[in-house]
Amino acid sequence: MRYKKTFIALVAAVILSTVGCDSPEVKSTLSAKSSIDTKVDSLLKIMTLEEKIGQMNQYNGFWNVTGPSPEEGTAKIKYKQLEQGLVGSMLNVRGVENVKAVQKIAVEKTRLGIPLIIGFDVIHGYKTLTPIPLAESASWDLEAIKKSAQNAAIEASAAGINWTFAPMVDISRDARWGRVMEGAGEDPYLASLIAKARVEGFQGEDLSAHHTIAACAKHFAGYGFAEAGRDYNTVDVSITTLHNTVFPPFMAATEAGVRTFMNSFNELNGIPATGNVFLQRQILKGDWGFDGFIVSDWDSVGEMVTHGYAKDDKHAAEIAVNAGSDMDMEAYIFINSLKSLVEEGKVKESDIDDAVRRILKVKFELGLFEDPYKYCDLAREKEVIGNKKLHEASLDIAKKSIVLLKNESQLLPLKKQGLDIAVIGDLADDKTSPLGSWRIAAEDSTAISVIEGLKAYPDNKITYVSGPELVTGTPSFTTEVQLNTTNRSGIEQAVDAAKNKDVVIMVLGEHGFQSGEARSRSNLKLPGLQQELLEAVYKVNKNIVLVLMNGRPLAINWANDHIPSIVEAWQLGTQSGNAIAQVLYGDYNPSGKLPMTFPKNVGQVPIYYNSKNTGRPPLEQPKSVFYSHYQDVSNEPLYEFGFGLSYTTFEYGDLKLSSDSFTSDGAINISFTISNTGKYEGKEVAQMYIRDLVGSITRPVKELKGFDIISLKPGETKEVSFIIDVNTVQFYSANEIWEAEPGDFKVFIGGSSSTVLEADFSLLKSNR
Ligand code: BGC
Repeated sequence: MRYKKTFIALVAAVILSTVGCDSPEVKSTLSAKSSIDTKVDSLLKIMTLEEKIGQMNQYNGFWNVTGPSPEEGTAKIKYKQLEQGLVGSMLNVRGVENVKAVQKIAVEKTRLGIPLIIGFDVIHGYKTLTPIPLAESASWDLEAIKKSAQNAAIEASAAGINWTFAPMVDISRDARWGRVMEGAGEDPYLASLIAKARVEGFQGEDLSAHHTIAACAKHFAGYGFAEAGRDYNTVDVSITTLHNTVFPPFMAATEAGVRTFMNSFNELNGIPATGNVFLQRQILKGDWGFDGFIVSDWDSVGEMVTHGYAKDDKHAAEIAVNAGSDMDMEAYIFINSLKSLVEEGKVKESDIDDAVRRILKVKFELGLFEDPYKYCDLAREKEVIGNKKLHEASLDIAKKSIVLLKNESQLLPLKKQGLDIAVIGDLADDKTSPLGSWRIAAEDSTAISVIEGLKAYPDNKITYVSGPELVTGTPSFTTEVQLNTTNRSGIEQAVDAAKNKDVVIMVLGEHGFQSGEARSRSNLKLPGLQQELLEAVYKVNKNIVLVLMNGRPLAINWANDHIPSIVEAWQLGTQSGNAIAQVLYGDYNPSGKLPMTFPKNVGQVPIYYNSKNTGRPPLEQPKSVFYSHYQDVSNEPLYEFGFGLSYTTFEYGDLKLSSDSFTSDGAINISFTISNTGKYEGKEVAQMYIRDLVGSITRPVKELKGFDIISLKPGETKEVSFIIDVNTVQFYSANEIWEAEPGDFKVFIGGSSSTVLEADFSLLKSNR
């Protein structure tokens, strides 16, 4: 409250000296009731050009912000600029004391006292981590995903943070790309709903509340289409693929009111995203009417020089701002170049004003002008961070994220008594890898390991042998993971331990730092010596439950051919081991479905369910070799999009359409039944896909258009229905607009993209 008075008094004083006390600006600024736009405009009027450019400058806070002011180097420059009101935002400053320290400088030392917006990569939780976003997406549970983002906001905001660089909504069809772990998979429909859920979760109903934070849809755009899955690589994507596949989740985030966007490192069709007028000015701020601000990715302004698109940093600043980038993350370029660019007439001051207006607006919406220390409550920080409720919620979504890939001879669920079990694999007692690579605020070794989780079931005998180490040394966020490919010690002990056991649980997969930014892989097999270990153990005991812990789809053909039970447990966050144990013992019946296709081998990549038919698709009995295929592997994936088993079984039937045609103002009701034909109560994600048979551009063989999570007791049958209307069938057509083209369609129903029911329908031309 004290601050509120100070800020308004300060602004009033400056305005009085600038425009006179009777001016409407003064009155409107002083009125708490005046709209945010009016306040922003009044403030903008009294800002110098340097102060405006300062708002567009974001720094990484790496020095000890609570200590004395730094004496040398970049830290000194940053500190000085902070004191001069030349910094609008900081990232990676966290914890109440630290945030308060930098905020105090901005608020108390600068001429206008404009508060900082404090950003941080709250990707899947702050300190209490939930599953990596790809894993959460496998739950298909929008409410649970929203709740997870809500909890992340509660915890992060208690640590002083008011802006997250999430959700990442990049679609990707390439499991080689390490950042698939951070997204929602390959499908634009599912990913759009998840984008909306996450934005709503982070931002809540009231952005000015102290437990909600601004979200950031990133990376705009095309980042997930990096050639060959190599991070930061060239992206060349057609305009129709952009609109039909890449843009939808970004559009959904915009419609959900996301307050910020981040552009991306990659070039898109020859133009870096950061300097891309089409992406930022035409599509986002133009067609979609986005009124928040765009932050660059880390030094992506400067990287336009390396891309060969700007001749030097100053040129890069000119291109970035003219293209609609509003804030420069850690490149020091806007702050150093924009003033002279304005003076030289190369950047319009009105464009600077527009950028600053957007940034100030979000700060006002967050309530930072009312109280810049609203996220800085030490008591709340202590009470909220890591509290029990957050752990319970993390466990809940962790269970929902697990996907049962195979369960032949019903090895699972495990009996709770009398079993002699061997647990094998370095990852089984790894308390860090389940945290994934975006664990910045979580401390290492804070996840519940599988071994710890299994201890909750004490009536079975457990023998643990790790087998060979997965990695050598201690990998970190900034260093390459060194795999152990030579030291086989541990294989023999593992084989011995597996002999004569009732069940062997093998926990294999990827180290936590093998996925994430800059963590592309050129093969998708089990890394290191794990395949060798698996095969050696299989020779002495075939009753293996393979628990996979990984951040991307893996090509595990051999395992699928030989191992009876396979559980995809991703990187599930803090409660990982508990969630896995509860699923293995059947206290939670797995219900997850893959949000991304698992290939048979890396050569099939990119592989995705909503592909085109081509002119020569495989026939059941090919007449010659001249069709679209490989000589050495089928076109089919190992596990298709939408796939996931349960301990029970489901049967689909009785597909009915209320009509076999509709017009643009009408709709068709699709209904069908699902029966639980197995022994356990369970949940099934019922999925509806369509195919548009002929289009002005060719249409995918299947497109997800609806899903619902249905709970069923053994023997129970429920009717499920979906609506098909113009929204279901529209796409970005050859006319370069979103439209529904009259014609014939198919609708498919099932528990994965390999659907089991199908019917035909048509969209008729309207008479009007
Ligand atoms: C990543 C962004 C992230 C930023 C700040 C970049 O390297 O690409 O996704 O938000 O760093 O940490």
